[in-house]
Amino acid sequence: MNIPEFWPGPMEGVMTPALLRAAAELNLVQRWMTPFLRVTGVPKRKHLEAFLAPFAGEIPVTMQLMGTDPAAVAATAAAAAAIGVKAFNLNFGCPSRQVTSGGAGGGALRDPESMIRMVETVKRAIPALPLSIKLRTGWNDPAEQEFFLPRLAATGCVDTFFIHFRTVKEQYLSVPGREERLQRSLELAEPIPVVLNGDVATPEAAAALWKALPGAAGIMCARGWLHDPFLLRRLAGLPSPGPEEGRETFFRAVTSGGFPVNKSIELSNFIWGREGNPYFRRLIALPPHTLFSAE
Ligand SMILES: Cc1cc2nc3c(=O)[nH]c(=O)nc-3n(C[C@H](O)[C@H](O)[C@H](O)COP(=O)(O)O)c2cc1C
Repeated sequence: MNIPEFWPGPMEGVMTPALLRAAAELNLVQRWMTPFLRVTGVPKRKHLEAFLAPFAGEIPVTMQLMGTDPAAVAATAAAAAAIGVKAFNLNFGCPSRQVTSGGAGGGALRDPESMIRMVETVKRAIPALPLSIKLRTGWNDPAEQEFFLPRLAATGCVDTFFIHFRTVKEQYLSVPGREERLQRSLELAEPIPVVLNGDVATPEAAAALWKALPGAAGIMCARGWLHDPFLLRRLAGLPSPGPEEGRETFFRAVTSGGFPVNKSIELSNFIWGREGNPYFRRLIALPPHTLFSAE
């Protein structure tokens, strides 16, 4: 039987150094995938080091890159490998209009040839290191994965697919058919392992998804992990407090050194949801650019 890998989903803007530190201190995760580094030219070493510094420590890190110029992304991967990065991921899923309009992120799904060129070029730059892809099931229609997944798998350059079941056009809308789409992803990606992603927010939901798709390699939870910060521990069978105590413990740990009020509002809304956020009134009464601590 497969032993699933449980991944915290990368979240640009949310994964601040304070959040990463708190998660490491509380032993909440067994692995990180960084949010995307947007590559336009090859970044200076200083820039790469600054991007990676908050992830330094014992927890293995996969660095996510996003761009449209294969040579620049490949050279960036090589430069990051030279300073110690041990695994890479390419972002072909980001639905932001600003990103997709130039063909980056989820925009790449409209041009499978560009994805293949990117994957092959980057792999050549880091032949000995694992390269994964994070993507959605299509740009406009989940049937698009029928075309691009087998082709990406056939490159021999992809070690793992992380698949968010929605299309790019679906953004974060509630859509039916997650299991069916992901079941098809597993078939199309054969023999490359697939980590399932999207709307897993409870251990019960994870167990149900795992039961439905036992051939998967793991489950990635992004927003669900913020809503229940001990979720990945629970999934791994590690002792954990109840969800409410876990939320409070995590929020206190993130904000303990003083955390910007605007970021505290955003994070507490992710953790509790806007309706149930016990800190919301207190936070919005504070000047936005000051520091807050829940202690
Ligand atoms: C605020 C935010 C930032 C995100 N940033 C990234 C990112 O940098 N790279 C990426 O691959 N996905 C990013 N995602 C997508 C998530 O990793 C995940 O694929 C998506 O939220 C669906 O999973 P979920 O239902 O478990 O949240 C982001 C999502 C959110 C909500």
